[in-house]
Amino acid sequence: MKIIRDPCQLQKILQRERARGKAVGFVPTMGALHEGHLSLVRASDRANDVTVVSIFVNPTQFGPKEDFKKYPRTLGTDLKKLRKTKTDYLFLPSVAAMYPEGCITHVEVDPKLSGTLCGKFRPGHFRGVATVVVKLLNIVGPCRLYLGSKDYQQAAILNRVVEDLRIDCRVHVMPTVREADGLAMSSRNRYLSSSERRRALGISRVLTALKRDILKKRGAIARLKVLALKELKKNVDRVQYLEVVDPVTLHPLRKYQKKMTALAACFVGKTRLIDNVIIRSQ
Ligand code: PAF
Repeated sequence: MKIIRDPCQLQKILQRERARGKAVGFVPTMGALHEGHLSLVRASDRANDVTVVSIFVNPTQFGPKEDFKKYPRTLGTDLKKLRKTKTDYLFLPSVAAMYPEGCITHVEVDPKLSGTLCGKFRPGHFRGVATVVVKLLNIVGPCRLYLGSKDYQQAAILNRVVEDLRIDCRVHVMPTVREADGLAMSSRNRYLSSSERRRALGISRVLTALKRDILKKRGAIARLKVLALKELKKNVDRVQYLEVVDPVTLHPLRKYQKKMTALAACFVGKTRLIDNVIIRSQ
């Protein structure tokens, strides 16, 4: 695994790889790697000749009161984990390399998609995500981009960005990887104390129960949502949202349809956690 910090150097190397006919797969991350990230790396390795992983804690996607400074930076263990995979290139740019002085261009996604759900509580977050991912895609030039389904809204937005800006790359959204007890893997789980960790389990439990109730059509979506919310509040400290939405437009649903997604964001202690379940009726 070659570690590259300079965007121009990586761009040149990957231009050469593509000229030799190599398919490049790309996994963007902010580090603090867990099995969820590694599943993306393995998916890329299965389908591509060259796999590129980036680790960059992107300042522009954190709000002023968010955890940018204390976001886990665990490069030593990340390197060990990646060395056990077939990552060919690890891109480790600095903030100055990604946002050189004078850089004033951003990718803004319509609030219809970026201003709901997490976007309502994290203004500017998806502008930061879309901007950095477009920059990374321009540097790496992959034919396949791998994202995790846990960050559901992020994946929906990046799918749109790639399509709208005609970026020549296929987006692969891979299933959420969970701990044995159901908790969705997240770099932020390490903030949880053991009692918070226990309470955090309520999120996946409530969403799974909601999915079951929806599939069995046990009542109107609005009513099932109220019951789920009540249950969630018994476990977590603050709920930002619990919604049932259309998987593509992210519009809240009042009526049943074939494909739906139920999502929640909440705080357990000071840690903000998100999770979702995909609901497909026969
Ligand atoms: O999901 C993440 O880790 C980040 O939002 C991403 C896609 C790497 C952009 O910084």
